[in-house]
Amino acid sequence: MSGKMRILTSVAAIAIVAAGLGVWIIRGPGPLDFAGGTKVALADYRAGKPTGVPAKLEKASLVERGEYLAKAADCMVCHTKPGEKDYSGGLAFKLPFGTLYSTNVTPDKDTGIGNYSDQDFLNAVQHGQRRDGARLYPAMPYTSYTYMTDEDVLAVKAYLFSLPPVRAKAPENTLSFPFNQRWAMIVWSAVFNPDTRFAPDTSKSPEWNRGAYLVEALAHCGECHTPRNLGFALDNRKRFAGAITAGWRAFNISSDKATGLGNWSDQDLISYLSLGHAPGHGSASGPMGEAVDHSFSQFAPEDISSIVAYLRSVPPVPSPDLPATTAPVAPASHKDGVTADARGKKVFASACTSCHGWSGESPVSPMATLTGTWAVNDPAATNVAQIVLSGTKRHTPAGALSMPAFGSAYTDDEIAAVANYVTGRFGAKGSKLTGKDIAEMREQTAD
Ligand code: HEC
Ligand code: HEC
Ligand code: HEC
Repeated sequence: MSGKMRILTSVAAIAIVAAGLGVWIIRGPGPLDFAGGTKVALADYRAGKPTGVPAKLEKASLVERGEYLAKAADCMVCHTKPGEKDYSGGLAFKLPFGTLYSTNVTPDKDTGIGNYSDQDFLNAVQHGQRRDGARLYPAMPYTSYTYMTDEDVLAVKAYLFSLPPVRAKAPENTLSFPFNQRWAMIVWSAVFNPDTRFAPDTSKSPEWNRGAYLVEALAHCGECHTPRNLGFALDNRKRFAGAITAGWRAFNISSDKATGLGNWSDQDLISYLSLGHAPGHGSASGPMGEAVDHSFSQFAPEDISSIVAYLRSVPPVPSPDLPATTAPVAPASHKDGVTADARGKKVFASACTSCHGWSGESPVSPMATLTGTWAVNDPAATNVAQIVLSGTKRHTPAGALSMPAFGSAYTDDEIAAVANYVTGRFGAKGSKLTGKDIAEMREQTAD
């Protein structure tokens, strides 16, 4: 090799190492790397069966098993526009650079996935590649589903193909340049999709492994609860530390004692995941309410216990912007307590007290108790403003539960005022939202 060649070769080698290092730094650890134990291939794991369906469905038909898994992965919530047929697509994802629509995954041959072979379906769900070869945007959480076994993915396909085909075409995406360049997702996938199946960790219990599979491969909790890095991928260095999702704040679910789940009892967690409510911690609203109603409430009890066992092992990451403790019950009379914001108090008196009372302990349902929730203790008041704008309609195992949407009844200034009043009265530190903040929230969530 000549001297010049040698210099060129070493420059190229340094460039490759630097690029590799850059990718390694941005990508960070994988979702299960924190556990640190020895991983084995699924086929070599003898201690239990972390994948598939719970014992009671082991002998059920392929379609029934697929139904359980499709619910556990909550395919429906994103692939159904409210008011339209299940799985017929067209739900809008409002992103800072335009709108992306989910597609029809019913077995219709023209507008759905009726022509997908087994391999096409595996390619879409585990690799993010459409039947025509084009890449999918990561709004479809294939970086989580990639951990699903082929068997489980194909059971989901069998379930979807058992449903009636629906003719429905999603609107064209309105993403701006350069985000409308689908081919760029080839590079994104190469860096951020681990493209590997779940491998059990022999240093952990079978229950933990089942929980890991449910949380990471199917239920994709991290897609909402883990902050994102520069490349819009999950930043597992801050795993489960909380993030904003569709305009709502998905709070910290790491094992941090003050701001995460460290002080929740097992029963609190079981209750929150299966009923959408835990006494003293509030109720699941917005995207979490939907996830509970369509997905987590359908889990077998032993699967919920496995999820809890797994969550306990996630290292603590604090949320420094939240107060160290939530505020106690407010006074029962409107004359006592925080009354600084007269306009907010007026709205609260006429629109909210019938269900929430002046103390924050609901006179109508424990599920509407505000005391102790992060929503009212979050100084950014994100979820308070969201629920006032859009309300909530839940179909809980305990019956229907709803709060009306006040988005069209009040102006942006009035909504900001009532949110500030609610966080001031029931929370540790009042918020300072303005009408402009509310206008921006409407932008993010309007359909
Ligand atoms: C968080 C939202 C979300 C969830 C959950 C979700 N998807 Fe998707 N999915 C999308 C979006 C958005 C697209 C369209 C992406 C694009 O156009 O690049 C998509 C695209 C697809 C496609 C490609 C269809 C085509 O040809 O256009 C398939 C297949 C699919 N999803 C199947 C599933 C299955 C199966 C599940 C559950 C295991 C699921 N999805 C769960 C959002 C989601
Ligand atoms: C589609 C997004 C989404 C997914 C998926 C999701 N969450 Fe949530 N989660 C949220 C939001 C938003 C909130 C806040 C709800 C509220 O304040 O009413 C929340 C709240 C919670 C809370 C209450 C936290 C607190 O301190 O108040 C727990 C516990 C929780 N989620 C656990 C989970 C687990 C476990 C999973 C997966 C099995 C999961 N979530 C999946 C969005 C999501
Ligand atoms: C008809 C009864 C009703 C009225 C009126 C009502 N709410 Fe609610 N609210 C509820 C229920 C029920 C829940 C629990 C929702 C759930 O589980 O998803 C709730 C939950 C909440 C939460 C907690 C959200 C969370 O993410 O934890 C806040 C904050 C809230 N309401 C504020 C208000 C404000 C402010 C008003 C008046 C502008 C109001 N509510 C009016 C019934 C009501």
